[in-house]
Amino acid sequence: MSETLTRTGASTLMGDLMRRYWIPVMSSSEIKDPDGPQVKVQLLGEKLLAFRDTQGKVGLISEFCSHRGVSLYFGRNEENGIRCAYHGIKFDRMGKCIDVPAAPQLCERMSIKGYPTIELAGLVWTYMGPEEKMPPPPDLEWCKLPESHVYITKRVQECNYLQAMEGGIDTSHVSFVHRYEVDQDPMHKGVKALDYIKADGNVVFTIEELPYGLVLLGRRNGDTDTFYWRITQWLFPWYTLIPPFGHHSLAGHVWVPIDDHNCWAWSINFYPDKPLSSEERAQLDAGKGIHVEYEAPGSFRPKANKDNDYLMDRVAQKEKRAYSGVFGFSAQDYSLQESMGPIQNHENEKLLHTDKAIVMARRMLHEAALNLAKGVEPPALDSSSQRVRAAGVLLGKDEDPVKWAKEHLSDCKNHPVYSI
Ligand code: FES
Ligand SMILES: [Fe+2]
Repeated sequence: MSETLTRTGASTLMGDLMRRYWIPVMSSSEIKDPDGPQVKVQLLGEKLLAFRDTQGKVGLISEFCSHRGVSLYFGRNEENGIRCAYHGIKFDRMGKCIDVPAAPQLCERMSIKGYPTIELAGLVWTYMGPEEKMPPPPDLEWCKLPESHVYITKRVQECNYLQAMEGGIDTSHVSFVHRYEVDQDPMHKGVKALDYIKADGNVVFTIEELPYGLVLLGRRNGDTDTFYWRITQWLFPWYTLIPPFGHHSLAGHVWVPIDDHNCWAWSINFYPDKPLSSEERAQLDAGKGIHVEYEAPGSFRPKANKDNDYLMDRVAQKEKRAYSGVFGFSAQDYSLQESMGPIQNHENEKLLHTDKAIVMARRMLHEAALNLAKGVEPPALDSSSQRVRAAGVLLGKDEDPVKWAKEHLSDCKNHPVYSI
């Protein structure tokens, strides 16, 4: 099961499953100019090259020339295609060979792989599955908002996507590794939610399996007649939402394999109904909240990384300023997840009842991957199921939170944000 879940290359079970969904590739701004420099990008173990052609359309093609395997990174992006620097063979944005200077008659058989792309929410997305099975574009709330309302970054995480994503599903770790961060972080501090979270560390989880993924409902004591519920979702195959903190922006992640030992962790903050303020943007730019500072601009590798022990501060750990000695929500998470090794040895783990949600997510992914191989269509291809929203809400002690979530958190555009 671990092998199936963690291997995502071409023609693997999980790789085939993931290729049936739209995949975020990069920020549109990384290739902003027509005929500008092409960028290397790796997804699900495939080495690709992204570029914007003369007409402004995005190409995503195999990195390597069909002739003798030279990297097209060295090629020329000109006149609607990339021309290989070695012997001048040219490919268009879908990888179709459009010129073989030495033998024009052989053009047809020199094409390379190319994937369709769309641009949505300031990102380039691709679909790497069978052409006739392309699903509708993603419909997550943050995909459909004006640019001013959304803030998105990505970072490289140096481990398998599964153990990274499981951190996004497993909310029980928040009371430990993030314990001191929530008080200091400008995107979390100063809200009522923290009083409930701190007063009651014994969260009781209800987990609801739905066709599109999971709804996780965490119950803590509220006021006299109420429970405080933090409700969040995991959506097939790699989206997680974060329960909101008071008036602060909503948030979520996407966990996309680069290869089996690395993944892209996308982090998103957004308001459904108003722009992020310039002050908030400045804080996010500085790596606050769920974002990070980079080692070097454009590297997308966090400044705190395994080469510098994640800038661990043992004094801060002793003085209860950072639970693990590492600062920053993301760094706290990825330092622990990378410490498991590039692919966690799942055979050796001894799971607890608080791991129920990740066990359910694993089973659902595993089953979907096996089913696909038998010809059963994957779940959540109808993107309307993505129109859900996380919440933090006080409900009467006799209210059914699952029913409440169904009524108030799906088709979210028709509801206010529930957050205290
Ligand atoms: S290797 Fe690309 S044209 Fe020869
Ligand atoms: Fe975390």
